[in-house]
Amino acid sequence: MTPRLQYGAPAKILHWSIVALLALQYPIGWLMPDIHRGMTPGTGMTFHVSIGILILALTALRFLWRLTHPVAPESSLPGWQRVSSEAVHWLLYALVLATTITGWLFASYRGWSVSFFYLVPLPMLASDNAAAGRSIDGLHQATEWALLTTIVIHVAAALAHQFLYRDGVMQRMLPR
Ligand code: HEM
Ligand code: HEM
Repeated sequence: MTPRLQYGAPAKILHWSIVALLALQYPIGWLMPDIHRGMTPGTGMTFHVSIGILILALTALRFLWRLTHPVAPESSLPGWQRVSSEAVHWLLYALVLATTITGWLFASYRGWSVSFFYLVPLPMLASDNAAAGRSIDGLHQATEWALLTTIVIHVAAALAHQFLYRDGVMQRMLPR
């Protein structure tokens, strides 16, 4: 399959929808009430979990789209930038997956039943297990910070292309 030179509308819509959802997800995660023994998920947690599952579903869709509609790195870029941008993009996919799965496992090990935006019950990935819940909590926090660090690098690179190199890389992801 010959890679395209520009991102198409579905890739752009999915990219910016996931950005908007992540911009909601971090503040909800930090502001929702702390977890304590015997608690049941309140509104903040229900929205955090639901938005998280939505991010996972849209990222999976986007990943499939990317595999079936490959886009070549901007041809004017030096080799090291092509390789590093591809590596950062793959890392972003991996870290979104790791963050959502560890969060979902954490909620499952607590023995919670959580609904998707109060509409339908969400399937849980495992049964009640307090010890496993404690270790996965640390992993959800580690992956959420690793994801945030990678996003900062990705956005810094996008801004560098826009304002320092002025080479049109940002335009590839913006509406025409
Ligand atoms: C990419 C998506 C996600 C991001 C960026 C994210 C981010 C966060 C953040 C910032 C916190 C606060 C932790 C802290 O106090 O440092 C948190 C906590 C939590 N998240 Fe997520 N989350 C995501 C997806 C999910 C999903 C899909 C679920 C469940 C299905 C989930 C379940 C939880 C739970 C149960 C907590 C409370 C436990 C804890 O404090 O670690 N998260 N998340
Ligand atoms: C304000 C924030 C952001 C800006 C300005 C931005 C900008 C861009 C740009 C310009 C590209 C195209 C790069 C190229 O052609 O080589 C791109 C691609 C990409 N971005 Fe972002 N981005 C942002 C946030 C995010 C976030 C939060 C994520 C994911 C967690 C993300 C994931 C990706 C991925 C995976 C690609 C590769 C293309 C694809 O698979 O669809 N971006 N971004």
